[in-house]
Amino acid sequence: MRVGILGGGQLARMLALAGRPLGLDFEFLCPAPDACAAPLGHHRHAGFHDEDALRALAASVDVVTYEFENVPAETVAVLEGRVPVYPPPPALAHAQDRLREKTLFRELDIPTPAFAPVDDLAQLRAAIEDIGLPAVLKTRTEGYDGKGQFVLREAGQAEAAWAAIGEVPAILEAFVDYSRELSILAVRGRDGEIRHYPLSENTHERGILRLSVARPGEALQSRAEELVRRLLERLDYVGVIALELFQVGDALLANEFAPRVHNSGHWTIEGAEISQFENHLRAVLGWPLGSTDPVGFAAMVNFIGHLPPAEAVLALPHTHLHDYGKTPREGRKVGHATVRYPDAATRDRAVSILRERIA
Ligand SMILES: Nc1ncnc2c1ncn2[C@@H]1O[C@H](COP(=O)(O)OP(=O)(O)OP(=O)(O)O)[C@@H](O)[C@H]1O
Ligand SMILES: [Mg+2]
Repeated sequence: MRVGILGGGQLARMLALAGRPLGLDFEFLCPAPDACAAPLGHHRHAGFHDEDALRALAASVDVVTYEFENVPAETVAVLEGRVPVYPPPPALAHAQDRLREKTLFRELDIPTPAFAPVDDLAQLRAAIEDIGLPAVLKTRTEGYDGKGQFVLREAGQAEAAWAAIGEVPAILEAFVDYSRELSILAVRGRDGEIRHYPLSENTHERGILRLSVARPGEALQSRAEELVRRLLERLDYVGVIALELFQVGDALLANEFAPRVHNSGHWTIEGAEISQFENHLRAVLGWPLGSTDPVGFAAMVNFIGHLPPAEAVLALPHTHLHDYGKTPREGRKVGHATVRYPDAATRDRAVSILRERIA
């Protein structure tokens, strides 16, 4: 079987690393000449609007999936009908637009921070009145790693915020004073079977995910599973999904969902029976899903901007290095390490060493 992936970054690379032992071949359609997934399969070096390349991809693979949610609708339109595309395109349409996404949460009775659409400065001022401050102004489309966001602390910042995000359609969202950020990763097969990974607890630095710790056995697990189930069923979803959550007291508020494998699930490569990457492939191919049970106590630290020397990471026992083969650049995710220990206390010590002395 041959799997086509839109995008050729580290998520595509890790999908291929999971799929090769299963006998799968990969094609990556990606405009970047130095796509880091390329060594793992065939790199179709083309843009997402290149219809000839899309038709050729559809003709040569059994299924198409994607590693990022900003796949243009026209791209999907060329592929659909020629080859199965999973997760289903309506999931993409919702995840691409924060207003549609939050409206869907509301419809499904998934609690989410108060929000309002903002199309101009006057609407922003009205939304500030409605929602109160602090609040976050976010572009409706194309944000990632905290880009396209402005935190407003006083009403006098309205003009600056509107300019800072580029005066494009946006939403204003209440700023949540959360105790923790969590995510739930789930996978749904073509036959509708659903499995969940244990919650991840996530820490961001300067808007970019830095640390994810697997939290099996949390009291909030079943609530998170219930919330993500509503999304999976409404979207008739196939593949891995990640739902990002804020914890406030014992309540969970949905921040956003990603219709793809997710950075907060990288620990599943070593820390779960079957990783998010393998389960995503199994789902989109219509194969049986694998166990999402945790193995040991796992956590993942992202390497952002530069990779530490391999020897320093590998000197820690129970530590697994992932070098994405990307050119280092400020703010860019270039690799990660996963620690998987027999107990949580030694896991946490290893995480501190990684973050404070090595990363
Ligand atoms: N309403 C909010 N209240 C408090 N913090 C927030 C809020 N919205 C976002 N944040 C913080 O900013 C981070 C990034 O926001 P969000 O997930 O909406 O954007 P993103 O650019 O899609 O990020 P990513 O690509 O990392 O998922 C969140 O993980 C959280 O730490
Ligand atoms: Mg996010």
